[in-house]
Amino acid sequence: MRSPVINVMAAAALKAARGLIRDFGEVEQLQVSVKGPNDFVSAADLKAERTLKSELGRARPGYGMLFEEGGVSEGSDKRHRWIVDPLDGTHNFLHGIPHFAISIGLERDGEIVAGVVYEPTRDELYWAEKGAGAYLNDRRLRVSARRQLSEAMIGTGMAARVRGNEPRYAATLDAVLGAASGVRRFGAAALDLAYVASGRLDAFWEFALSPWDIAAGLLLVREAGGYVSDLSGGHAMMASGDVLAANAHLHLPLAALIREASRASGGA
Ligand code: IPD
Ligand code: CA
Ligand code: CA
Repeated sequence: MRSPVINVMAAAALKAARGLIRDFGEVEQLQVSVKGPNDFVSAADLKAERTLKSELGRARPGYGMLFEEGGVSEGSDKRHRWIVDPLDGTHNFLHGIPHFAISIGLERDGEIVAGVVYEPTRDELYWAEKGAGAYLNDRRLRVSARRQLSEAMIGTGMAARVRGNEPRYAATLDAVLGAASGVRRFGAAALDLAYVASGRLDAFWEFALSPWDIAAGLLLVREAGGYVSDLSGGHAMMASGDVLAANAHLHLPLAALIREASRASGGA
């Protein structure tokens, strides 16, 4: 029952993923070489981006694009824009750790209306369309039902851009570690959000993410019945990159905990 636009996004992701899987096999070999896999991984990332650009561009010629590597390109259709991370979890990929994804969001009139996050090594396709629910392959997704913070498994990440503002992040991490059952830092924000949508994680927070990390994932969480906000409880996630995603029970207490810890550390 996927709509035509989800089919376009899924087909583009699957095609780019075939290249990533091939290159990931090479990367595993390159771990032991003196030069290391850095240049090779940059090339793999760019190749995936080229594939996605051409597939999405061919299917919807007028749409604008915001790609992580290639930046913005204006389209003749001013209402629609693809927001794409061709390889989320680059650091994992670089080290041969099989936890990375392709993320594609579709924005219409400034609002995300469709999203796909594809995890090639598990062949897991997360997709959502505004008003139509969130799915993992063909299974409908719901966020978890856990009510107690003390029982919750919570994902997080530390963006490269946050490294200059570590005290704030360290304070929030400390607070959540003290309150939750477990904290995980898996290294691919698009997948962290997909895991909240599927109930594997009960919540996720990170600061200073980029639009391509979260465009698809935010819609996945919402369509799975979860709540997403920035850290002040507003909805400027795409602008600030600050994200808190959780089920309906945990969103409020977690937001209060993180805000308080952040304030106490002298952060925003
Ligand atoms: C990164 C991952 C990571 C997050 C960083 C992102 P990249 O994206 O999503 O989990 O902590 O903030 O930049 O660089 O692998 O595309
Ligand atoms: Ca990313
Ligand atoms: Ca990336």
